[in-house]
Amino acid sequence: MAGFNESTFSNLLGPQSGIIELMDDLGRAMASGDMLMMGGGNPAIIPEVVEVFRKRMQSILDSTEFDQMISVYEPPQGNASTIEALASLLREHFAWDIQAENIAVTGGGQTAFFLLFNLLAGPQQDGSHKKILFPLAPEYIGYANQGLAPELFVAVPPLVEYGDDGFFKYKIDFDRLQIDDSIAALCVSRPTNPTGNVLTDTEVARLAELADTNGIPLIIDNAYGLPFPNIIFQEVRPVWTPNTIVTMSLSKLGLPGTRTAFVAGPPELIQAMSGANCILSLANNNTGQYLIRSLFEDRSILSLCQDIIRPLYQTRANQAVDWLRGAFQETNTPVEIHRPEGALFLWLRFPDLPITSKALHERLKARRVLVVPGYYFFFGLSEPHPHEQQCLRMTYSQEPSVVQEGIRILADEVRQVYV
Ligand SMILES: Cc1ncc(COP(=O)(O)O)c(C=O)c1O
Repeated sequence: MAGFNESTFSNLLGPQSGIIELMDDLGRAMASGDMLMMGGGNPAIIPEVVEVFRKRMQSILDSTEFDQMISVYEPPQGNASTIEALASLLREHFAWDIQAENIAVTGGGQTAFFLLFNLLAGPQQDGSHKKILFPLAPEYIGYANQGLAPELFVAVPPLVEYGDDGFFKYKIDFDRLQIDDSIAALCVSRPTNPTGNVLTDTEVARLAELADTNGIPLIIDNAYGLPFPNIIFQEVRPVWTPNTIVTMSLSKLGLPGTRTAFVAGPPELIQAMSGANCILSLANNNTGQYLIRSLFEDRSILSLCQDIIRPLYQTRANQAVDWLRGAFQETNTPVEIHRPEGALFLWLRFPDLPITSKALHERLKARRVLVVPGYYFFFGLSEPHPHEQQCLRMTYSQEPSVVQEGIRILADEVRQVYV
């Protein structure tokens, strides 16, 4: 068929984009079961969590909720009682001054970011062009191709801090964070995909202050954060100010198949999001909103995340670090690990790696190990950063036996690369 890939739109949506390759690899690996899946960010399938939602689905099926769930277009903003239940939880749990008018539902965080970035940045009515600024590269691969206008993103390279505990940690280089009239918003994921970093409360407070001073929003992508799924291994303060936009998703707590997320922000933004969502989809999928509503209402979402989900990932992260250190020591091969503070990932650096991160990814794929090469995460920089060719992201969310075997092969392959 001629013509469908000639438009600017089709080219901006990037046939060559990293996220398409990643999700394609992920989907095939999950379906076929013949790869060691340490690539995409599929959450673990946790029996206790699946059981909670199985029961909840059963109670929906046994009541008239089912009729509503499958038969009704909810308003574009989302189901009113689910939104009110979330607002009430956030008021009570975090003392946020937040109402239903501050929250919209979208078809997953990915859709939320597509709408947010293009609502805020790109060509403006006055002829200027605005951008989204990522204060700390590397950032989430899924943002990279979301701009409907070219040149939508700028990013700041990280400061690298080496701790006594053998880990390194990326910090925001505030000296290089330049905000001028061309910046529409700041955006960070916290915990960060791909590194497992958690920006400190001080860093977030400084970003919030900079956003305030410049009269622009600070977007906090809370895909792994509080109160759900709470895959965050230290005490931090979730932030909400009149200038912050916080996204929350049901995916990483175990419901990626429902494609449901919530965006919290100023009422005018929420109206714009709802309107854009309506133009794209009329309404959201009801399944996730119905499944989660009673867990918001009775607050059981909090204990599910705190007592089941977080400890599982904390254990898997520690295990994966031990296996990595053991395997690389055994093969006498250098590896540096970003301090795992949350999310589902380890970010590994192989100093002076003699091949590109993409070539390493290909070699591992040939040995049935899926990881994600580092260079996909460094978009928006004015010049290449050395870590993009020395790093890769691996997820530890899948079965421990898969992760252990994947790490064994990884260490062996990296050893061969250095020989
Ligand atoms: C940081 C981050 N933001 C957003 C998303 C989008 O997730 P979803 O669309 O499933 O909510 C992901 C998915 O991996 C992510 O890691």
